[in-house]
Amino acid sequence: MAYNLLKGKKGIIFGALNEQSIAWKVAEHAVEEGAEIVLTNTAVSIRIGTIGNLAEKCHTVVIPADATSVEDLETLVDKAMEHFGGKFDFVLHSIGMSPNVRKGRAYYDLDYGFVEKTLDISAVSFHKLLQVLHRKDAINDWGSIVALTYIAAQRTFAGYSDMADAKALLESIARSFGAVYGASHHVRINTVSQSPTMTTAGTGIAGMTDMFDFADKMSPLGNATADDCANYIITLFSDLTRKVTMQNLYHDGGYSKMGLSADVLRTYIAGKEK
Ligand SMILES: NC(=O)c1ccc[n+]([C@@H]2O[C@H](COP(=O)([O-])OP(=O)(O)OC[C@H]3O[C@@H](n4cnc5c(N)ncnc54)[C@H](O)[C@@H]3O)[C@@H](O)[C@H]2O)c1
Repeated sequence: MAYNLLKGKKGIIFGALNEQSIAWKVAEHAVEEGAEIVLTNTAVSIRIGTIGNLAEKCHTVVIPADATSVEDLETLVDKAMEHFGGKFDFVLHSIGMSPNVRKGRAYYDLDYGFVEKTLDISAVSFHKLLQVLHRKDAINDWGSIVALTYIAAQRTFAGYSDMADAKALLESIARSFGAVYGASHHVRINTVSQSPTMTTAGTGIAGMTDMFDFADKMSPLGNATADDCANYIITLFSDLTRKVTMQNLYHDGGYSKMGLSADVLRTYIAGKEK
């Protein structure tokens, strides 16, 4: 059901690769809620993924940009402003990639060239984006910017490797830039810490299926899906959350507040008795 929460609002959505992507669901929900959007991803992801189908469905364009390139981000923001006929109201940063995770490098054996790429793609790209938006004064007053993160920024998860460090940096950038952008333009910046989700990036993490099941059993409400996540992000883009900024907001069915659930304990005992 749509509530017209984003009627008259315009925004850029990064990171829709295919139908499983969290950004894909956010794009669909944003348009259902009355927003006009521009989609973006890297040239390679546009080629290998199915973002063209999403653009058709959302009656919009896809503008290629590598989020690690300030030049690409400048061109993207200029073109989006041209497309919208002026400033816009929201941005979703839904970007993550670690070559160390992809190549199965253990945390005690990281390749530092890969670490630089992980941090640049998954965290520093957020600062680059915010700096370009701020410099170009591209966001309307009381606009909203959201980036996606994971609880591995606060607690250690086997297999998440240097992505944990990238997410900690991403959340810090959201806080630090949130202070600047809030004071200068009333623009809010938050991160949403999402449950494990079966997407291309998600399934790249070693042991993802078991991690997904464990989180699902641990969370009183069960794992939040990509669709649930999109609904939450829509509220953050809407005028209903105008005073929420610089926060890391858990969207995880209660997982982050749990120590041990009865369900996980039962599974552990059953495993011991085998
Ligand atoms: N899937 C999960 O379990 C989970 C949980 C919590 C948070 N997240 C976060 O959600 C976000 C979206 O991931 P997803 O799970 O939807 O997976 P996904 O693979 O669908 O999306 C990741 C996107 O990042 C894009 N990307 C990679 N390098 C880029 C670059 N240089 N410039 C621009 N875009 C680039 C990819 O093209 C892709 O569209 C990521 O930040 C991820 O860490 C995912």
